[in-house]
Amino acid sequence: MTAILEIKCLKAEVMSDRGRITLIDDINLNLAAGEVMGLVGESGSGKSVTGLSIMGLIEKPVQVTGGQILFKGQDLRTLPQKEMRSIRGNRIAMIFQDPMSTLNPVLRIDTQMMEVVHTHEAVSKQTARERARDALGMVGIPSPEERLSAYPHQFSGGMRQRVAIAIALMMSPDLIIADEPTTALDVTIQAQILSIVQKLAREKGTALIWVTHDLSVVAGLSEKLSVMYAGRIVEQGSTAALLRRPLHPYTNGLIASLPAHNRRGSRLKQITGTTPSFANMPKGCAFHSRCSFATDICLSSPSLELMEGRLLRCFHPVIEGASS
Ligand SMILES: Nc1ncnc2c1ncn2[C@@H]1O[C@H](COP(=O)(O)OP(=O)(O)OP(=O)(O)O)[C@@H](O)[C@H]1O
Ligand code: SF4
Ligand SMILES: [Mg+2]
Repeated sequence: MTAILEIKCLKAEVMSDRGRITLIDDINLNLAAGEVMGLVGESGSGKSVTGLSIMGLIEKPVQVTGGQILFKGQDLRTLPQKEMRSIRGNRIAMIFQDPMSTLNPVLRIDTQMMEVVHTHEAVSKQTARERARDALGMVGIPSPEERLSAYPHQFSGGMRQRVAIAIALMMSPDLIIADEPTTALDVTIQAQILSIVQKLAREKGTALIWVTHDLSVVAGLSEKLSVMYAGRIVEQGSTAALLRRPLHPYTNGLIASLPAHNRRGSRLKQITGTTPSFANMPKGCAFHSRCSFATDICLSSPSLELMEGRLLRCFHPVIEGASS
């Protein structure tokens, strides 16, 4: 399969008076055309910084300071702003947790959607409006023709997120990065929105990166999983293989805390401890203070290596599986 996205050794740092602090480092990802990947890790692990880096939307004081982001073989980091703007929203789109990150509160939906079309294609107003209407219909917004002339505040939270999704899908991008798009919504609407994005992406052959802190959200949606911890990928491989036999102690802990892995009535197993702060990263493996497999060698940094057909960053892979 052709790689649509290949990220090599990506690094981003925040610059402050006291120097630089690394937020993400040695991020390596591979995504084939039409493939669906879950990017999972607890809050603050660097998922959004990774997504925004791909989009070229990182802002000061954060800076991408190393690595390559190859999109169809072309390094996005070396592209002039103008070319990056023509890719963003057109070939690569992002859906954010808050749809108002995409929507302008003072403009009608048709104005906003038609502007997206006109930024990327020289078509008539009528064609752009028809595209916008069809996109609203596609994401299940009732009476799309009428809703085109509404303002964002006239939609419910779930419907507003559907509009943002319609905008992301409108140009049939090759890649969509969905950064916790359903976290703020109630459970029923969450499920509807996940299945709409998944279905439309499949129909159009769009590759998807689902960013979430909740493994149970993406376990059933993605073919591939990348697990992040403290700004680094710690394990990456096929979802089925990782769920069946996680090799990294952190992935193992995440899976053991999934409801399906716990007997009914028993308490969910949680990973004890908290993520270390970026300003005070411990020496060696960032997970060692929470890891029951840690030994002295873990005070040096494990590198990301190929093992059993997946990428793994750990000196002592788990042998027993998720119930340990
Ligand atoms: N502009 C910024 N300035 C300073 N630190 C930042 C900035 N943006 C992000 N960070 C830090 O980078 C780290 C990673 O943040 P990021 O938002 O990528 O985490 P995340 O995995 O998306 O978390 P969440 O699940 O809460 O969304 C965090 O420690 C965060 O505080
Ligand atoms: S490298 Fe060591 S501390 Fe880190 S996850 Fe593996 S066993 Fe645990
Ligand atoms: Mg985030």
